Amino acid sequence: MELKGKRIALGITGGIAAYKAAELVRLLIKQGASVQVAMTDAAMRFVTPLTFQALTGRHVFTDPWDVQSGNGMAHINLSRESDLLLIAPASADTLAKIAHGIADTLLTTLTLARNCPLLVAPAMNREMWGNPATQRNIATLRADGVGILGPASGEQACGEIGEGRMLEPEDILEAVIAHFQPKRLAGRKVLLTAGPTFEALDPVRGITNLSSGKMGFAIARAARDAGAEVTLVCGPVSQPTPSGITRVDVTSAQDMYQAVMQRIGAQDVFIGVAAVADYRPAAAAEHKIKKEDGAPPTITLVRTPDILAEVAALPAAPLCVGFAAESRNLAEYAERKRRSKKIPLIVGNLIQDGFGGDSNAVTLFDDRGETPLPPGSKIELARALVERIALLLGNA
Ligand code: PMT
Repeated sequence: MELKGKRIALGITGGIAAYKAAELVRLLIKQGASVQVAMTDAAMRFVTPLTFQALTGRHVFTDPWDVQSGNGMAHINLSRESDLLLIAPASADTLAKIAHGIADTLLTTLTLARNCPLLVAPAMNREMWGNPATQRNIATLRADGVGILGPASGEQACGEIGEGRMLEPEDILEAVIAHFQPKRLAGRKVLLTAGPTFEALDPVRGITNLSSGKMGFAIARAARDAGAEVTLVCGPVSQPTPSGITRVDVTSAQDMYQAVMQRIGAQDVFIGVAAVADYRPAAAAEHKIKKEDGAPPTITLVRTPDILAEVAALPAAPLCVGFAAESRNLAEYAERKRRSKKIPLIVGNLIQDGFGGDSNAVTLFDDRGETPLPPGSKIELARALVERIALLLGNA
């Protein structure tokens, strides 16, 4: 429920992507937002107000002269009752009108009269998007403080391929959630590791663990939403890459170490969320190990580099945060790891809580002692951790 209590006015304009606005409304409501829809005449050529009335349980405003609004001033009331005005899809025509302060529909009038932030998700043919007139309008809107979401690139309804597609509803939802987050890490660079590593035994087998990457990806999202520039170095996971994050895929602990060390110089914060293998086979067999009669093969293991400890020991080390997953004695083992790696903050979790699922229960260990956080979803915990990191950086 990342939008609990938020009131969103959703403007829908004319474009084939208008059908996706129905899914967007559903996603916003599922996250706890209340949604009030306003549509242009052109939007109603593609989808009907009835669809949105059914989805939101509210009257849909379409007409500047609508008498449903108590004082007959829907164009004023709608933004006064909203925390955000979102226009998705936003046609070239409506964007041009907003850029020039034209108020000839209910939606453009309410946009001009608003006193809440405005986000727009453009959707149009690639030539319309690339046209200098549209680009001038977009530049004007940006300069006026309007958030521009997308557009995406790809196959268009007209059959052409290029930039101009509306972002998918899930991506717009993420941008709306990000909009409401305090920008506690603005201007900061954060590098984090996530997921397991895979240490090869032969071309098809190896040593790994059950980390899904979910905790690390949630922290990457939370740091991005807090305004940081985020680089995520991750082992083999199947998580989709959150937009706006630089992802570096690696396999082994040695690959992860190199990827981190190449990039660490420019970072303000390093967070080790990955479940990095502590040992790897001394040598990986060139060919598949065959089953033979007699004694089973012996595997000799050697230590991998301790990425977190090495980053923390750098002369100009960034703020370092570690994780500890334990099956018992959490406080004792986590604190021991924090001291041995010489880091200010470690996040302890039990393996049965942390690995794989969408939720977790964590305790923060620092010089002041231990602070258990209320159990919650990984994204909720990630936002709480980002808040603590901002405090340590002095960016509360
Ligand atoms: O990915 P999920 O399924 O969402 O699960 C999340 C998680 C349980 C993996 C995560 O919350 C977590 O606890 N990660 C750390 C796992 C762990 O046990 O780490 P460790 O005790 O082996 O290492 C301690 C710290 O040193 C960690 O920050 C680790 O990233 C780092 N480390 C460890 C070994 C090594 N060679 N290099 C390292 O940087």
